[in-house]
Amino acid sequence: MNCATKAAEQIVWVGGNDRRLNLFENAYPLTNGVSYNAYVVLDDKNVLVDTADKAIGDLFLENIEAALNGGRLDYVIVQHMEPDHAATLMRVCERYPEANVVASAKAADMIGQFFGDGLKDRIQPVKEGDVLETGAHKFTFMMAPMVHWPEVMVTYEQTTKTLFSADAFGTFGAVSGFLFADEVNFERDWLDEARRYYANIVGKYGAPVQALLKKAAGLEIGMICPLHGPLWRENIAWYVDKYQKWSTYTPEEEGVLIAYASVYGHTENAAEVLAMDLRELGVKKIAMYDVSVTHPSYILSEMFRFGKLAFLSSTYNSGIFPAMETLLHDVKAHALKKRTVALVENGSWAPTSGKQMREVLSGLQNMNVLENTVSIRSALNADTREQLRELARALAEN
Ligand SMILES: Cc1cc2nc3c(=O)[nH]c(=O)nc-3n(C[C@H](O)[C@H](O)[C@H](O)COP(=O)(O)O)c2cc1C
Ligand SMILES: [Fe+2]
Ligand SMILES: [Fe+2]
Repeated sequence: MNCATKAAEQIVWVGGNDRRLNLFENAYPLTNGVSYNAYVVLDDKNVLVDTADKAIGDLFLENIEAALNGGRLDYVIVQHMEPDHAATLMRVCERYPEANVVASAKAADMIGQFFGDGLKDRIQPVKEGDVLETGAHKFTFMMAPMVHWPEVMVTYEQTTKTLFSADAFGTFGAVSGFLFADEVNFERDWLDEARRYYANIVGKYGAPVQALLKKAAGLEIGMICPLHGPLWRENIAWYVDKYQKWSTYTPEEEGVLIAYASVYGHTENAAEVLAMDLRELGVKKIAMYDVSVTHPSYILSEMFRFGKLAFLSSTYNSGIFPAMETLLHDVKAHALKKRTVALVENGSWAPTSGKQMREVLSGLQNMNVLENTVSIRSALNADTREQLRELARALAEN
C-alpha cells in the first residue's frame, strides 16, 4: 500500500525509507535507516522530482501512482544521477512512456552511462536559469556541480517558494510518521546525524556548497525539499547557518575532539590525562573516541563541530596504528581546514607515528599542527606527563 503524503497543497512526498541498510554507500553505518525522498508536483502538467533507490522501488512506484491519482506524468526532473536517487529512473520511464526527462547535459551523459541509449530521445536538456512551466508552477534550474557529484542541479519552484535541494540539506535517518524538521526535535535528535551526513558525504565540497548557498541567498525560500531526511519550512535560517559554518570549515562550537589509537592502554591513558588537563584549563566540551571502536565517520563529524583536535597513536610496524591511519586518510580526503591539532605518539622502541601523522596533516590548508609532539616511550613518565600538560595548555590557549 502506498505511503505517499502531502508536503504542501500540490506537492506530494513519494519517497520511502530503508531501515535495513547497514552501510550507506557501502561505507557509512546507519543506525536509524535513511530516507530517499522524491516529490510529485501536481498541476496542468505533472512533475516528478527525482526517482529513488532500488531498495524502495516497488513502494516508490505505488507512491507515484497514488500521487498522480490517475493523472499522467509529464516530466521527470533528474537532479542527481547517483543511484540512491536514479536507480529506478528506467522503471519510472517504462511505466510512464509519455514523460520527458529533464536533466542537465552532464546528467544526460550519465543517464546514457547507467542505462544505455533507451532514454536518449526523451531527454529535455536544461541549463542554468532555464524555466519549466507546468501551469501554476514555474521551475527554475540551478546547477550545483559537486554538491555531491558534477551533474547535480537544484530546482526552485517560484509559486510555492520551494527549493528542491538534491543532496544538500539532507541527513541520514528514516522519516517515520513525520515529514518536516519542525515535527521533530531536530537539534536534539537529528543534528548529529545531519552533521555526520554533511561531513562525510558533502564535507569535501565546501566551495561548491558555498556557491550554492550564494545562489540560494537570492531566493525567497519557504520550503526546502532535500533528497534525504526531513523537509524544512520553519527555522530555515538556523539550518542554513549550520551549512554556512560547515561549508566554510568554521567550527560550530568551542571544544576539543580527542581521537586515540592504543593497543595495550597506555596511549589511551595519555588521552584520559589530556582530557582532564583540558578540563582543568577550562575547556567545556570534549569528545573522545577510541578509533578502534568508533567508526571514522562519527569522529570526522566531530572534527567539523570542534576547532581543536588531538590525535594520539601507538606506533605500529613503524607506522601509524591502522585505524588511526584510516581516520587521518579520511580527514585528508575530506580536505578539513582551519583546525588546531595536537599530536601524541607512543612506541616501545622507535616511535614514529607522530612524525607520520604530521606528514599526513601537512598537506591540509590552514591546519595549525602544534609544534611539539609528545613522544611517549611505552607509558607516561614524569617527563612526558609534564610535556602533555604543556601540550594541553598550548591547545587550550590557541
Ligand atoms: C604489532 C605491533 C607493532 C608494533 N610496532 C612498533 C614499532 O614499529 N615501533 C615502536 O616503537 N613500537 C611498536 N610497537 C609497540 C607499541 O607501539 C607500544 O608498545 C605502544 O605504543 C604502547 O602503547 P599502548 O599501550 O597505547 O598500545 C608495536 C606493537 C605492536 C602490537
Ligand atoms: Fe549523492
Ligand atoms: Fe543522496
